[in-house]
Amino acid sequence: MAVLLTGGAGYIGSHTAVELIAAGYDVLIVDNFSNSHPKAVRRIGQITGVTPLLYNVDIADKTQLEKVFLENQIDAVIHFAGFKAVGESVSQPLKYYHNNLTSAITLIECMEKYDVRKLVFSSSAAVYGIPKELPLTEDMPVSATNPYGQTKLMIEQILRDIHIADPDWSISLLRYFNPAGAHESGLIGESPNDIPNNLIPYILQVAIGVREKLQIFGNDYPTKDGTGVRDYIHVVDLAKGHVAALRYLDRGSEFSVFNLGSGNAYSVLEMVNAFQSACGKAIPYVFGPRRAGDVAECYANPYKAMLQLGWKTEKTLDDICRDAWNWQRKNPNGYWGT
Ligand code: NAD
Ligand code: UFG
Repeated sequence: MAVLLTGGAGYIGSHTAVELIAAGYDVLIVDNFSNSHPKAVRRIGQITGVTPLLYNVDIADKTQLEKVFLENQIDAVIHFAGFKAVGESVSQPLKYYHNNLTSAITLIECMEKYDVRKLVFSSSAAVYGIPKELPLTEDMPVSATNPYGQTKLMIEQILRDIHIADPDWSISLLRYFNPAGAHESGLIGESPNDIPNNLIPYILQVAIGVREKLQIFGNDYPTKDGTGVRDYIHVVDLAKGHVAALRYLDRGSEFSVFNLGSGNAYSVLEMVNAFQSACGKAIPYVFGPRRAGDVAECYANPYKAMLQLGWKTEKTLDDICRDAWNWQRKNPNGYWGT
């Protein structure tokens, strides 16, 4: 079975490609490298012995994308491609609405035209907005606090409507919590091409000496130690969740939503301490003001995925820290190093 990964050279896509190949799938990647590097695809080949066929294509460009569908027999699509920086989406909303929405619509149109109706979509815990109750279950109310989250909500709605209009579609929305860590080989991982927005890549850059200290955004939240609490999920566990979701879609007409999280809740200070132990280095930090748009706590109830997909996280916080540090040490400049 051939699976097309849009954005497959990115952080989550590259790890998913490895797990899909290991599970016996044929993998094709379409990526325009707006936030990734072709080296990631070569490294997938190094890990698995199979280098996926790669198209350097902007999926918002219908002519280019159609070529991929014309030249290949595709059975299913996992749609990772999109911009994901929350802060940038606030300052440049059109960039996000244009890329994320146009890409999704163009992809869906191509899939319809070439009769491919099996789709897994990368959604986000961002669609829960400011949680009123925790842990989060899939039936809780959704809302968005920024344009990035809005694009996820809109695409979820488009896909819901498409399934109503044509039940031959088989669609799974995966709401990721906080992906972290790297493949244990240290060959693929998260490679920010700018100052990191997210906690873990920032901590790693402090540990490796690229940045002086971490700024912790707020220590006055109503949480266990005053810092923000999140559900960190090892990216390899997350990648395996996609294999489980694809298998689930084999059942036929389907529209389903799953939280992919660990269900564990760690504060920023707990993460800093865990990384200090893994790296054997102090991570200097200062407390700063809260970051606009941040919620105090966000963590999943992952029970539905456990029950229906037969999937659950297997890796621990120590695995996350060890594998992330291994990747960072071996690739101090990500894919942009020598
Ligand atoms: P990433 O930026 O590493 O990967 C996205 C990939 O899509 C990149 O390789 C980029 O070059 C590509 N891309 C973007 N626009 C494209 C276009 N128009 N045409 C072709 N390729 C394009 O991000 P990631 O962390 O791997 O995230 C993958 C998906 O998961 C995204 O949709 C993101 O919104 C979602 N998500 C990520 C997180 C997270 O914290 N990493 C959390 C929740 C949801
Ligand atoms: N944080 C800091 N300092 C930093 C970066 C982050 O203290 O330099 C804190 C944040 O305030 C938050 C926690 O670390 O309390 C995690 O922040 P991240 O930026 O790593 O992650 P978020 O939970 O804000 O958002 C991430 C993705 C979103 C996604 C969301 C839910 O960036 O795209 O997880 O999946 F929607």
